[in-house]
Amino acid sequence: MDRFIIRGGRRLEGEITIGGAKNAGLKLMVAGLLTGERLILSNVPQIADIATMRDLLRQHGVAVENVDAEGRTLSIGGPIESVEAPYDIVSKMRASILVLGPLLARMHEARVSLPGGCAIGTRPVDMHLKGLETLGAQIRLENGYINASAPGGLVGDRVVLPFASVGATENLLMAATLAKGRTEIVNAAREPEIGDLVECLNRMGARISGSGTGTLVIDGVEALHGAEHAIMADRIECGTYACAAGITGGDLRLIGGRIGDLGAVIRTLEEAGVEVIAEENAIRVRRDGPLQGVDIMTEPYPGFPTDMQAQFMAMLSVAEGASMITETIFENRYMHVPELNRMGARINVHGSSAIIRGVPSLSGAPVMATDLRASFSLILAGLAAQGETVLSRIYHLDRGYEAVDRKLAAVGASIERVRE
Ligand code: EPU
Repeated sequence: MDRFIIRGGRRLEGEITIGGAKNAGLKLMVAGLLTGERLILSNVPQIADIATMRDLLRQHGVAVENVDAEGRTLSIGGPIESVEAPYDIVSKMRASILVLGPLLARMHEARVSLPGGCAIGTRPVDMHLKGLETLGAQIRLENGYINASAPGGLVGDRVVLPFASVGATENLLMAATLAKGRTEIVNAAREPEIGDLVECLNRMGARISGSGTGTLVIDGVEALHGAEHAIMADRIECGTYACAAGITGGDLRLIGGRIGDLGAVIRTLEEAGVEVIAEENAIRVRRDGPLQGVDIMTEPYPGFPTDMQAQFMAMLSVAEGASMITETIFENRYMHVPELNRMGARINVHGSSAIIRGVPSLSGAPVMATDLRASFSLILAGLAAQGETVLSRIYHLDRGYEAVDRKLAAVGASIERVRE
């Protein structure tokens, strides 16, 4: 297992290019299951989760080919030969559950392994299943698998989600594109990645309105066709490097970052004493003065994203005064706390809230990555800490951040990947 060795205390300065969004790209690849024609996706990030999604689509018999040498543009499409998403892939990557709706819509049947819990919470899929049942699917849970069928095809209906789940919204949205008649998804999630998916689906011939609002209306069509789509910039990668500028008192230009997707994150950065400047096709983030403690509550978009919680916690651990973070999306997303405390942070967790008492400085230590965003919070802490931090289990990072060491080294960080 590879490790990162980080020598902290350097101010970061320069440019970082933000890649395509993991959480948009994965769903856009799945959208390729909805048509036999070619879906061409560009701005594809080079991360492990995208490779896993490639494996899953190939397991369904669908061709996934590199259009360019690097695989930044993919061509997806062809007949579906298997409607099964097996345990070994779904257990590796929960986003695999998103093939359920598209397979049901196009093939009228699907067999998808139940994902089970993960490091950040139990993460059930009840809303995905109930919603698909409302669209006429018959669902049986057997031997750890979801066996779903819709013999005459799915039929549009009104689905009210009890919580604005990102995944349930996306599964139902994709399923409804090929259902008979009109589907309404009420209390739909409004994350920008869903907007990107809607844009691509409409380009493929779907009839979806209400994007960016809490109600999506989908008029089913007979078939979708091929299209070309560029994956949106990753707002979480952008926010993460903004925190790197914040915690090191640096000055970074984040090329391709979209300010409109980052409202709550930018407001919180500014409140903490980090300056954010909108530039043409870039966001500049810098800090000269001290960091100030702030209070944060994670919420569905447009609220503060849970995927930025760990990175802000690292930054606030060296702020003046106290901060309180309340995590409302996942029940177990504080795995980074004991690791940050081993580096000298003063953080106490009380139920879903964490109190962070700012300390003047952190000190390097051997630490362990537990999930994707938690891993980056430890990198941020390591960048600001005195001495050396050795971060192990960085395969978690490789799942969702492209070339972390290369991007950070290019702006002045001392970070080295040790391969084992
Ligand atoms: N939930 C249910 N039942 C359901 C669906 C969700 O109880 O049927 C609960 C979950 O257990 C969780 C909450 O609802 O507590 C939110 O889950 P949601 O469905 O919104 O999240 P998701 O689709 O599983 C995506 C991202 C996550 C991100 C969340 C929230 C992808 C592949 N994953 O997950 O990203 O944290 O939305 O914004 O898009 C990450 O990138 O590190 C990551 C974890």
